[in-house]
Amino acid sequence: EKSGYPHFMLKEIFEQPRAIADCLRGRLDVKNHSVQLGGLTDVLDQLVNADRLVIAACGTSWHAGLVGEYLFEHLAKLPVEVEYASEFRYREPLIDENDVMLVISQSGETADTLAALRTAKERGALALGVCNVVGSTIARDTDAGVYTHAGPEIGVASTKAFTTQVSVLAMMAILLGQKRNTIEEEYAARLIEELNRIPDKVEQILDRSESVKEMAELFTYAPNFLYLGRTYNFPVALEGALKLKEISYIHAEGYPAAEMKHGPIALIDAMMPVVVIAATDHTNDKMISNIEEVKARKGRIIGITGEDNEEVINLSEFSCPIPETEDCLSPLLTSIPLQLLSYYIAVNRGCDVDQPRNLAKSVTVE
Ligand code: F6R
Repeated sequence: EKSGYPHFMLKEIFEQPRAIADCLRGRLDVKNHSVQLGGLTDVLDQLVNADRLVIAACGTSWHAGLVGEYLFEHLAKLPVEVEYASEFRYREPLIDENDVMLVISQSGETADTLAALRTAKERGALALGVCNVVGSTIARDTDAGVYTHAGPEIGVASTKAFTTQVSVLAMMAILLGQKRNTIEEEYAARLIEELNRIPDKVEQILDRSESVKEMAELFTYAPNFLYLGRTYNFPVALEGALKLKEISYIHAEGYPAAEMKHGPIALIDAMMPVVVIAATDHTNDKMISNIEEVKARKGRIIGITGEDNEEVINLSEFSCPIPETEDCLSPLLTSIPLQLLSYYIAVNRGCDVDQPRNLAKSVTVE
């Protein structure tokens, strides 16, 4: 049931504080600064000693996987490759018993993801899963895994599945970092405390949804959108663009901000809204230069940035300030206004938000 919301998608966006809290519950031990993931206990040694982690998924789950790559590299110093499941399965992938395959799937039924998982298992890799649907085919086929506990996701556009997938990946990366001794205790403690605060911070962003709605009015009829981000927010740029495409049918592209000069800058004119996700500290100056480049070509800047980042806020035509957080956790916050933006634009355009044309909730055909 939609519990009074006009669409499942909006209900699921607003459920995120609870969904993330459910995902973290019993796993984050804030007092002892530790992470417990019961589903991984039996395979933890193998995971800790792995040479390499291969992540395979499709769509939004693949975007969560990209955030995972940055988290595992940064916190656990573990080499990671992120693969489109459909590409991985049709190559002759180099994967063996020293590698770990991690598949990510909300439904647990995506045909290509399942096939990638089976390919990796045949070659001897340990197979782990991050799924939402309990008892799904992928969940059953993996050797071990972690459920996201987001609750049923009915809207075709994935929202709370993404933020809970990223939450699981963050917990896994902290746990691995601690076991591999690649993360300072003090930093791990800070991240655990901050993860625990994420549900409240998501709530604060949702409390300001009205301003995203007003912004959506202005951009409802834009024919194209560009989304730019760096480091942890590059995958968020991809995810923001996907969300807009799938439910509002507006053409949108996500890019690593620095790649703009290598092509997409040619598209920028006074008709082009550019969503800039500037929420990682050490790339802030570079993002400001990108904003200036867009503005010099009369592009319209929508800034998703830290609430103290006055520079970006002042340079943006519209901004959506988000509470301060650790850089590596920022996708959990920056993705929220982008979900809302795509939702309100789609509603303004009269689109069928929960059942977009040509899309199915789980893609069980290849
Ligand atoms: C996007 C979306 C799809 C799915 C993709 C994978 O909003 O819903 O891109 O993310 O089909 O689905 P799962 O995670 O069920 O494997």
